[in-house]
Amino acid sequence: MRRAIFPGSFDPLTNGHLDIIKRSSPLFDEIVIAVLNNPDKNPMFTVEERGDLIRQILPEIETGECALVVDSFSGLTADFARKRAATAIVRGIRAVADYEYELRMALMNRRLEPEIETVFLVAAEEFSYVSSSLMKQVFTLGGRVEGLVPALVEAEMREKLKN
Ligand code: PNS
Repeated sequence: MRRAIFPGSFDPLTNGHLDIIKRSSPLFDEIVIAVLNNPDKNPMFTVEERGDLIRQILPEIETGECALVVDSFSGLTADFARKRAATAIVRGIRAVADYEYELRMALMNRRLEPEIETVFLVAAEEFSYVSSSLMKQVFTLGGRVEGLVPALVEAEMREKLKN
């Protein structure tokens, strides 16, 4: 059983995240989409809301034989990956700017859990500038984000702005 975790804040899920999940699915039997519960970050969506959104959207994507599981975690990614008996941590690289931060995380995670490999996947060009934080900023200021986040995420962001 080749199990990977795909950790992130997912506040909210973007089409860039979905692209990475699709691209990684032929490589693994199961991918655990691991939503970080980070109370310091003042997120737009609670960890439960983020997980529920992901669960509703995942059936829309084709992942063949690869099972997708959604879970949340607190603490270290490396600890969560070990507890879930994962052999890999998947991360997406959008541009060179991501590399330094991702390299540091990958090396630290390897030091913490030498048996678990970080696997970097290159995001599709059209999502190379898409991040959750940019989507929130643009949407909050009245800009259009369709095509960059799932329609359900956009609808839920609209609901959040009403409150
Ligand atoms: O989607 P993000 O915000 O880029 O994801 C970053 C994440 C969640 C992968 C990273 O912040 C993380 O792993 N946090 C958990 C705490 C941890 O393990 N820190 C040490 C990383 S070497």
